Amino acid sequence: MSEKSPLIEVRDLHQKFGVHHVLRGVTTHVNRGETLVLLGGSGGGKSVLMKHFLGLLSPYSGQVIVNGEDISNMNERQLGKVRRATGMMFQNGALFDFMTVGQNIAFPLREGGVKDEDEIRERVLECLEIVKLPGQETKMPADLSGGMRKRVALARAIVDKPACVLYDEPHAGLDPITGDSIDHLIKDLQKNHGMTNVIITHEMRSVFRIADRVIFLKLGQIYWEGTPEEMKASSDPELLDFIEGVAREVTIS
Ligand SMILES: Nc1ncnc2c1ncn2[C@@H]1O[C@H](COP(=O)(O)OP(=O)(O)OP(=O)(O)O)[C@@H](O)[C@H]1O
Ligand SMILES: [Mg+2]
Repeated sequence: MSEKSPLIEVRDLHQKFGVHHVLRGVTTHVNRGETLVLLGGSGGGKSVLMKHFLGLLSPYSGQVIVNGEDISNMNERQLGKVRRATGMMFQNGALFDFMTVGQNIAFPLREGGVKDEDEIRERVLECLEIVKLPGQETKMPADLSGGMRKRVALARAIVDKPACVLYDEPHAGLDPITGDSIDHLIKDLQKNHGMTNVIITHEMRSVFRIADRVIFLKLGQIYWEGTPEEMKASSDPELLDFIEGVAREVTIS
């Protein structure tokens, strides 16, 4: 696969749940090494779209191409192979409460068959450094703040050195300063570890700070696509309405 080809391509993707037509012909792509943000109102189909990138949902119609391979109709075994080869990870915020921080972070390595305990320990400590939580490996998740738990979840997502991480609302429930630290981490992973990031967020401050490109989904279609600079300069009423609406919610809450 050429280094220049997109990591993920989506062609005329439709998804329906019963009569509910959620995705209505989405065509887009994710470039290797970029930070792409998915924006849009609640229920617009952002999480559903992201799940297709990993094959967690299969299309009603259309194609999802990852690393040049059509994953639309793959079985779990084939999908597992693609996920390992591309190193695509879903950053799931839920930690195992009965495991220490270190055990949580080591989990994907053990699942993946890594047996060397020294190597596991080294990787866990390295990831805790990256997420700025050194020395926290013996703590239990219940003893951490919400922001720290998010960072541990991020450490777990990157421990197997993925090429791409998908984040569904990594800023949700965080205060602005903790949210900022997540942004720094995301940018650090991109710059210093060559990672591709796909992020769903409602935090416009973060969007302007971290995005290379933005996709605005509305009613299951791509309504607007461009850079944060182009978004700032845009006079599109729907887009402005959305940005102002999000800003208003932040002020009220
Ligand atoms: N597995 C499912 N079964 C049935 N309906 C679903 C399923 N997943 C999502 N939906 C519906 O699809 C629509 C889009 O959902 P989605 O979760 O993608 O929205 P979203 O853009 O991520 O919204 P939010 O910002 O609130 O997270 C919603 O109406 C949701 O109820
Ligand atoms: Mg969602």
